[in-house]
Amino acid sequence: MKEKQESSRRSFIKKLATTTAAVAAGTSMFAAEHELKPFSILKRPLGHSLNDQINIALIGAGGMGTQDAIVALQIPGVKLVAVCDLYDGRLKDAKTRWGADIFTTKVYKEILNRKDIDAVIIGTPDHWHQQISVDAMHAGKHVYCEKPMVHGISEGPAVIKAQKETGKVFQVGSQGVSSLGNEKAHELLKSGAIGELNYAEGFWARREPLEVWQYPIPDDASAQTVDWETYISNTKKRDYDSKRFFRWRNYTDYGTGMAGDLFVHLFSSLHFITDSVGPNKIYAAGGLRFWNDGREVPDVLLGTFDYGKSAAHPAFNLSLRCNFVDGTSGTTYLKLVGSEGSMDITWDKVTLKRNKTFGSDDPFYLDKLKKAGSGYAERKKMVPPEEIIYDAEKGYKGGPYDHMNNFFNAIRNNGKVTEDAIFGYRAAAPALLCNDSYYNNSPMFWDPEKMQLIKK
Ligand SMILES: NC(=O)c1ccc[n+]([C@@H]2O[C@H](COP(=O)([O-])OP(=O)(O)OC[C@H]3O[C@@H](n4cnc5c(N)ncnc54)[C@H](O)[C@@H]3O)[C@@H](O)[C@H]2O)c1
Repeated sequence: MKEKQESSRRSFIKKLATTTAAVAAGTSMFAAEHELKPFSILKRPLGHSLNDQINIALIGAGGMGTQDAIVALQIPGVKLVAVCDLYDGRLKDAKTRWGADIFTTKVYKEILNRKDIDAVIIGTPDHWHQQISVDAMHAGKHVYCEKPMVHGISEGPAVIKAQKETGKVFQVGSQGVSSLGNEKAHELLKSGAIGELNYAEGFWARREPLEVWQYPIPDDASAQTVDWETYISNTKKRDYDSKRFFRWRNYTDYGTGMAGDLFVHLFSSLHFITDSVGPNKIYAAGGLRFWNDGREVPDVLLGTFDYGKSAAHPAFNLSLRCNFVDGTSGTTYLKLVGSEGSMDITWDKVTLKRNKTFGSDDPFYLDKLKKAGSGYAERKKMVPPEEIIYDAEKGYKGGPYDHMNNFFNAIRNNGKVTEDAIFGYRAAAPALLCNDSYYNNSPMFWDPEKMQLIKK
């Protein structure tokens, strides 16, 4: 692996050197080498195969489910025929948005029993993902399931089994995986652009009540407008509670905390970019510092993850942080750091930073070299560009569109998707184990290849 990486690193440096020389010489060669300009455009080739119409249904028509359906309907030949939700208001909204002839129900099995539906989008809270996914695939439907794929570590194998047994297309909804930005980062890492990977990180900074899961509760919310009994039928029995229904992310019976909600996106992107199957050691720290609104999950969470050496990558560490009381606010980035540079990765942009020189700028060290009479410190060098920005072409429809497009292309062409049940489980597991580590106050050990918890 090292030899392969060394040769691809040399090839990246060679390409970069050619461009740098062209820039220095002021030739038109630079224009031709658009892939290597310090500012470079990421392109997505167009092209859909427009075979038969695909009829879809949405199960869980809240914020994300609705957004997913809107994106799905941008794909030519896709039609929404039915919507399922447990709250009257959402079913009413669906009819207003998509027309009175949309079939609506509070019983997802009524959707699965319909013969005219080819695929379902599952946008329910996390505790319903596994059961509806498995039932849907066995009912002959293709499934687009929101992340995290499962609510508990023990739930993954059943989804993988259902996908294998039914042969249905199953895709998890971490959209970044299909984005131009993730693709470019994958290509750059393989070409040796940052040398040998040794560290990755991601950070979310939030402060506003809406951002930290204090969602508004509709005026008409009650046990009459919400099917509460169904909502809790696969978890602990409790009396009706609007907060537990509309602010479900704050409660462990339904949500998966910061790790399942946010970290999971970075695991998906990271695993795609590095071809990794996951970490083998997971440990978390954090606390509930500010949002004492009855939530059961921390509002500051740090996760640290050890990735062992594999055929695809060297050993590296991952650090993820989420702060819901961050007065500075900030942006979410996935950063990959290697021996020769780093990459900041978003869905439509990759900023590659490379070491300017490999020499030291430590004055003490340079003075020593000088005294040794090597002349090393005095000779100036040609330097490559320090920063190269790869930006998506204007009009790029974005990761969410690409992700939906990949889903429907796989259905139409009997193809495969990257973020299938195995991939989805390998992204969800370290996030869920991060929660386990936090609540158990101990590291968790995971075999990412076999997808098994290791008891120590
Ligand atoms: N991919 C992303 O970027 C992204 C972003 C936000 C949310 N999500 C995921 O999407 C899912 C939904 O999140 P949200 O923010 O839209 O929540 P939400 O509360 O806005 O919507 C959830 C909807 O599901 C309905 N519901 C609950 N149980 C149901 C059941 N058994 N059958 C049918 N409907 C049911 C609720 O009535 C509600 O309308 C979560 O899993 C979340 O992690 C993904």
